[in-house]
Amino acid sequence: MAKYVTDTLPDKFHKALISWQKKNFPDLDYLLERWSDHYRQEPFHLMAKIGEVRNPIIEVGRYEGREKFKQAKEMDEEVMEACAAIIRAQASTEFGSIQQHRESLYKAQDPAVQFDVLRIMAEEFRHGYQMVYVLASDTWTKGGKDLASEVLEELLHMETGSHVLDAFNLYFDSFVDNVTFAAIIDRVGKYQLTMQSIFSYEPMARSMPPMLVEEAFHLASGVNPLKAWVGQAAKEEGNVSAANIQKHINKWFARGLEMFGDERGGSKNIEFGFKPMKNLEAQELYTAEVQKEVIDLLNSAFIMARYPGFSRHQAIELGNQILRSQEAQKGIEPSELFLLPSPKFFRRRGVYAYLMSDLHGNLLQSQKEYVQYLRKNLPDSYLSGPDFARYLENLERHYEGEEVKEGKLPFYG
Ligand SMILES: [Fe+2]
Ligand SMILES: [Fe+2]
Repeated sequence: MAKYVTDTLPDKFHKALISWQKKNFPDLDYLLERWSDHYRQEPFHLMAKIGEVRNPIIEVGRYEGREKFKQAKEMDEEVMEACAAIIRAQASTEFGSIQQHRESLYKAQDPAVQFDVLRIMAEEFRHGYQMVYVLASDTWTKGGKDLASEVLEELLHMETGSHVLDAFNLYFDSFVDNVTFAAIIDRVGKYQLTMQSIFSYEPMARSMPPMLVEEAFHLASGVNPLKAWVGQAAKEEGNVSAANIQKHINKWFARGLEMFGDERGGSKNIEFGFKPMKNLEAQELYTAEVQKEVIDLLNSAFIMARYPGFSRHQAIELGNQILRSQEAQKGIEPSELFLLPSPKFFRRRGVYAYLMSDLHGNLLQSQKEYVQYLRKNLPDSYLSGPDFARYLENLERHYEGEEVKEGKLPFYG
């Protein structure tokens, strides 16, 4: 357990966040009432948690070897501004995910899984609160303006569609989204928080360990229901097919990769001592983890449900053999197993933006063929929504030679 001390925001900010919650997340009250029916841990409490700092010294970049910055005013203006932008982006994702989860929370079939998602939402609210706390506990003045109040004002008025990162602007269409998002997108969160544990601005670094403890619950709350659904699907039971889950992975994985920022960037994060690695390196570690903790796990769950005598290791081996050879073994077809989409698939930012790639990374010949392929491999409920329409419009514009920029990106260097 991470050690920490707790604090609350000054009244003005605390009240502003509570009224945001009443409007955007009224189900929090239900969570608090029923908490002890579901968990033995301390009940959820809205507060800032100030953890321990792993290293008081800045570990990378321009200021390497110096003591971490305790106050915003110690930073050069360029660094301070970049720091505030990262905190804002982080807060935006936290509040944004609550607005997404609430769209389809009520579509859950299993009340226990639904309650876990409700807890995720509450913890994301605390994470947003934490980021506001980091801003509000210091003085961030730029040209005589108070950045903290400005950012708070802006955050409180954001709706799905206006968040900083694309993944948080996507509507959830079914409860499969809530769960897949926790398995795929919260894992990006885990990577960002882990990297930010070295942050050169100490209050940010101290915020990370308690947030990471909560993030582990979010990942498990995504992977476990997926695994259960896959186990049922393998026996031709249950209401969520393996193919449907694969389509949701296809929808989210590309957005997850893009949350790391452009593959060619990230050097400023190192220079300013915010993160220890560039975007591509972090993205590759993340990709390997999704392969192991999501794809391999689901394949072994599928195989073990069909053949209960198999160990996890044997199941993973068999799954890999089937996928490598693309031939059925023990009655399991390659098409029944899960596949990690190529990093080239369904991209709209970064080096592979609008490349017409299939799930394996092979390029398709025409726009028509590509769009048909997407329609076959993305969830039906997503295809009829506004984000896919926007993607197709931008694809068109891209191939007409226009430079397409989707939304604002936060500071990623
Ligand atoms: Fe979070
Ligand atoms: Fe999370």
